[in-house]
Amino acid sequence: MSHKIQTLSGYIHEYQKSVLQPEAFWARIAESFHWKKTWDKTLDWDFEGPDVKWFVDGKLNITENIFERYLHTKGDTPAIIWEPNDPKEDNRIITYRELFELTNQFCNALKAQGIQKGDRVIIYMPMVPEAAIAMLACARLGAVHSVVFAGFSSSSLADRINDCEAKMVLTSDGNFRGAKQIPVKAVVDEAIENTPSIEKVIVLKRTGEEVTMKADRDIWWHDAIAGHSAAFKAEEMDSEDMLFILYTSGSTGKPKGVVHTTGGYMVYTQYSFENVFQYTQGDVYWCTADVGWITGHSYIVYGPLLAGATTLMFEGVPTFPHAGRFWEICDKYQVNQFYTAPTAIRALQAHGLEPLEPYSLQSLKVIGSVGEPINEEAWHWYHDHVGKGNCPLVDTWWQTETGGIMISALAGITPNKPAHASLPLPGIQPVIVDAEGNELTGNNVEGNLCIKFPWPSILRTTYGDHEKCKNVYFSTYKGMYFTGDGAKRDHDGYLRILGRVDDVINVSGHRMGTAEVENAINEHPKVIESAVVGFPHEVKGQGIYAYVICDMEGRTEESLKNEIKDTVRKIIGPIAKPDEVQIVPGLPKTRSGKIMRRILRKVASKDLSNLGDTSTLLNPEVVDDIIKGAGLK
Ligand code: PRX
Repeated sequence: MSHKIQTLSGYIHEYQKSVLQPEAFWARIAESFHWKKTWDKTLDWDFEGPDVKWFVDGKLNITENIFERYLHTKGDTPAIIWEPNDPKEDNRIITYRELFELTNQFCNALKAQGIQKGDRVIIYMPMVPEAAIAMLACARLGAVHSVVFAGFSSSSLADRINDCEAKMVLTSDGNFRGAKQIPVKAVVDEAIENTPSIEKVIVLKRTGEEVTMKADRDIWWHDAIAGHSAAFKAEEMDSEDMLFILYTSGSTGKPKGVVHTTGGYMVYTQYSFENVFQYTQGDVYWCTADVGWITGHSYIVYGPLLAGATTLMFEGVPTFPHAGRFWEICDKYQVNQFYTAPTAIRALQAHGLEPLEPYSLQSLKVIGSVGEPINEEAWHWYHDHVGKGNCPLVDTWWQTETGGIMISALAGITPNKPAHASLPLPGIQPVIVDAEGNELTGNNVEGNLCIKFPWPSILRTTYGDHEKCKNVYFSTYKGMYFTGDGAKRDHDGYLRILGRVDDVINVSGHRMGTAEVENAINEHPKVIESAVVGFPHEVKGQGIYAYVICDMEGRTEESLKNEIKDTVRKIIGPIAKPDEVQIVPGLPKTRSGKIMRRILRKVASKDLSNLGDTSTLLNPEVVDDIIKGAGLK
């Protein structure tokens, strides 16, 4: 039974029910899934712990809700349409039955290589169907997957492997990305020099480049699956058994392993997918994210496949071999729902309208945005030129920690408002609070965004460090989940996300902790101290600006700046490379030694208004030096 909301009054009605009787509301939705044993209690929760359990003691396997649930009706329906990086290469269309068999076969291969229920498996792969197959196979045999975006460096990969003590890495020889070929296996080799828990590496042949294969440790994917049966009995999982860990950056220290569990994540991703995108059976849906991010998990793989949808997976980039590539793919497969990030829209907008001209885009019914605030200009360009003015544009706000879309229009059902995520989904209770945590009710209010009641796909913990989960998300405002974002409820009652209020920057929709980038910069032997802030960037949304105190001996300013950028690229990955490095004589500090980031943010944004009183600083003179050094005086 579908739980797709059809009308605005239907939304209002469902929303009210979900707030008045959340347990009854979610129990009714969960009933449409296949459970090996139904739950005893719908919800157990306490945000103090935090301790949240949905569908308590329910038993299931999420993949049975993709395969066994649909095979008799959808066996021959395409589950995944795969479009390669290079349009000259053949595409692949994989039906539900084929995906089922490929998943089972890979389950058998994983088992033969020693993977058991509860083991952690790292997936460091290109955007190919095998990445989805790997995730589903882990889920089917009860292993916990942790996908690491294949643009991260070997040391980032090693940190993640060590944090969750993974037993295996799934990877490829190399990845195609636009005109580039990236030697992924070599990155894995370097990472696992320092990861004692890794026993095996399974390597998919993708680019055909030469790689080293270590005997007894490395095995080719095609050899690993050879001779294995296409049948595998799904493991019985508890609702609260871990489904996956996904690492994400926070304002302090190293990335945290956000933990999602089976039952609630399953229910929420399907429900939100069907409602936000108004997916109708037979539609072709395309989300351009990478499976290395939460968007890829929830809205390329799990949400669409749980809904029995056809999900398109694209290996490449928006501008290769030409800037009309996205639109070409939309026409080629008659895509009905298209979901991308503002940064991609802005990058394509810069190419003008010409790349759009050869394509009709008439199949599009819904367009979506995710990952960062979408500015009004990009919103209108996307709406007018891609959606041709007649597709609802869903601006979906959510986070790795929320597992699924939290605030968004439901396409064509609830109203669109440019640059506003708009209204919460049923079951989501957002509140705007002031600095003391008082709820700001009514319209025309602005403050920090919290959620005051659990929803099924809320994170359960941060892997190996529950205290951290409590401190980061549940301690700032008592009894509430704190998102880290600022928000405004406008005069009509629509929510607008204002961006992060903590030390997290959002670069091209990717989260970066300023402390994480500073730690990487400080690894350079010539660096004495550094401070990193975000600044407005035309395409990326935010760019990374690093202020660095250095020992200049034997270096020119230019060479040092490049070395610093390179250090960050090596330690974290290309996405964290600072856009600007400014060598400074000192950093503005308070008398207690705290860096005044507010001043640094202002200078980085070239905005010298309201710098505030700098005379109370420990070293007020550096402010002038910094302003001069930035070329603003
Ligand atoms: O600041 C918000 C921004 O992205 C953050 C979450 O990043 P991540 O966990 O990587 O997940 C991104 C994809 C779900 C949020 O705290 N963000 C995400 N979507 C939006 C957004 N900001 C404004 N509008 C959005 N639609």
